[in-house]
Amino acid sequence: MNLLDQIDPSRIPQHVAIIMDGNGRWAEQRGNKRLFGHQNGVNAVRQAVEAAGKSGVKYLTLYAFSTENWSRPQDEVDGLMELLASSIGAEIDTLIQNGIQLRLIGRMQDLPEEVQRKLHLAVERTSQCQALTLVVALNYGARQEIADAARQMVLDCQRGAIGPADISPDTMRRYLYTAQIPDPELMIRTSGERRLSNFLLWQLAYTELHFCPVLWPDFCAADFYRALIDYQHRSRRFGGV
Ligand code: FPP
Repeated sequence: MNLLDQIDPSRIPQHVAIIMDGNGRWAEQRGNKRLFGHQNGVNAVRQAVEAAGKSGVKYLTLYAFSTENWSRPQDEVDGLMELLASSIGAEIDTLIQNGIQLRLIGRMQDLPEEVQRKLHLAVERTSQCQALTLVVALNYGARQEIADAARQMVLDCQRGAIGPADISPDTMRRYLYTAQIPDPELMIRTSGERRLSNFLLWQLAYTELHFCPVLWPDFCAADFYRALIDYQHRSRRFGGV
């Protein structure tokens, strides 16, 4: 039976998040530099975005660069920045044609200016698109996100806009980078690693986790559909019975 036929269209997760892991190992297995893995990872990004669109997912979040990734060798960091800006820049028309809105989460202000400029242009040009929202987590760290939210809440308390009694999980949610985005129902991590690595710690509280053994550059639409099928076999109780 075709994989798509095994998916129940009435129970598609609204939001899927992915930790794209294994680019470095994929390149090393081929005797190449790590950047070669990231370059090939762009094809897997296309596959994931297309599969998300085809299956009716409304939000797809991709962890592209973490706040910890700055500690990698300088040439890898520079190459990744260039790759992110150029690949997103080159795809703007395709994003628009397919109704894909680009959003960014993370500390954008610390990225090289030219990268910020190219990315913000893509965000602006796709802002009216409605079919799928592609959220790229860039210079993102969940602990930093929570600290940024706490700082802003304190500032708002100091100017009297909110008081200590207003601070609740719902208020907290509104201060996160993902304020207008529903929590992911499904999180996929590739390469066989099983950890969260400082990704969406608040938002993943009740998310189903799917660990997939393939290295990210080999990830394809079929892997995405298999994750959806696995998700649809889970029983979600949210702490109830
Ligand atoms: C993790 O693999 C991957 C990254 C840190 C970068 C992911 C970026 C891309 C796929 C570039 C394109 C992205 C977009 C959104 C256009 P790793 O280097 O940690 O692999 P390893 O664990 O094998 O070392």
